[in-house]
Amino acid sequence: MFGYNISKIRKDFPILERKIIYFDNACMSLKPKQVVEKMNEYYHEYTACTGRSMHTLATRVHEEVDKARHEVKKLINAKSDSEIIFTRNTTEAINLIANSFGLKRGDEIILSDKEHNSNLVPWLKLKNKMGIKLVISTTNKDGTFNLERFTRCFSRNTKLVSIIHTSNIDGVTNPIKEIVEIAHKNNAKVLVDAAQGIPSQEIDVRKLDIDFLAFSGHKMCGPTGTGVLYGKKELLEQLDQFIVGGETVIDSTYDSYVPEEIPARFEAGLQDYAGIIGLGEACKYIRSIGQNNIHKHEVKLNTLLTSLLSNEEKIIILGPRDAELRGGIFSFVIEGLDVHHVAKILNHSKNIMTRSGAHCVHSWFNKHGMNGSVRASLYLYNTEEEVRAFAGEIKKIAKFLK
Ligand SMILES: Cc1ncc(COP(=O)(O)O)c(C=O)c1O
Repeated sequence: MFGYNISKIRKDFPILERKIIYFDNACMSLKPKQVVEKMNEYYHEYTACTGRSMHTLATRVHEEVDKARHEVKKLINAKSDSEIIFTRNTTEAINLIANSFGLKRGDEIILSDKEHNSNLVPWLKLKNKMGIKLVISTTNKDGTFNLERFTRCFSRNTKLVSIIHTSNIDGVTNPIKEIVEIAHKNNAKVLVDAAQGIPSQEIDVRKLDIDFLAFSGHKMCGPTGTGVLYGKKELLEQLDQFIVGGETVIDSTYDSYVPEEIPARFEAGLQDYAGIIGLGEACKYIRSIGQNNIHKHEVKLNTLLTSLLSNEEKIIILGPRDAELRGGIFSFVIEGLDVHHVAKILNHSKNIMTRSGAHCVHSWFNKHGMNGSVRASLYLYNTEEEVRAFAGEIKKIAKFLK
């Protein structure tokens, strides 16, 4: 029905045997057993650290971490494995750039008006601390990107554009290729926050000519506490170090130190090896299904969901009407009802798990005078039956209000 075998996929996620409808995928995806087993393999068979020790177990860890780095490299088509830096999450990856890019007073960076706090607060901190200027590119009324307005945001002081690939509020994907072209014409670099894009869309950093890319493992079938910063090699080499200590230096005296090569220079302290190895497995898993197939599946489900609910009087959908432009996200409010209340009713009545609130994009909700929304976010294992059950519950809740 959906281009791949959904019942086979659901068997990879034992948690789905419980009677739950999990629609909180934009917050965090469920984990397939392949990823969990790979992490257990580390704990059962070769628990050790890499880099520092020369014994058999450490050598195995080293090999497995290298393999994981290579899997990430393949997923985004980076040029070399050394362009992949492991972080704890998207947030840490963005903070690394914010603290290492060498911005000075008066430098300008451009953000969209729909950035997650992870891609707003690190820049606000720099604004307060050292006087960089944030320029906000506002989107269209329906949440789609406005390239014309974006083009007008540049000045000769613009150093960086830091922007979401896909919005976690309404699911709209930005035209990254055009954004990068415009930025490069204006001599600015581009950092893409792909936390919501990478789980279900192919992102080829070389084709798109992206300078830096940040994403998290936990939204793409990977472990919690894992993330990635990609950077073009020549740019990573120019970055200052951020968190420093063990593993980030080749040598030190009481007066000085010699930084490691990339990527080790940015991976301070003992790492989450099980997580990194699990992340490599998650890359393999989503690649084996195909991110484009996952995207098509999400759009099919969202199109159905939208058709079932778009004529309901009290329901306001955030973002464009066309579900194709919203990927796997269906974000909405029921007029007159508190969003958290709706999410709680869904949970208690049918074990339907959604997210409610400002989704860490308070700036956008504040600007629009809203408290938040209820967000149903779909992923590769969700089904048409689940969508129908969800729509039925929402209709009941809205009717109850009349
Ligand atoms: C668009 C976007 N950016 C950044 C983040 C932050 O991700 P993390 O908490 O894994 O750092 C999220 C998480 O929801 C997100 O949706």
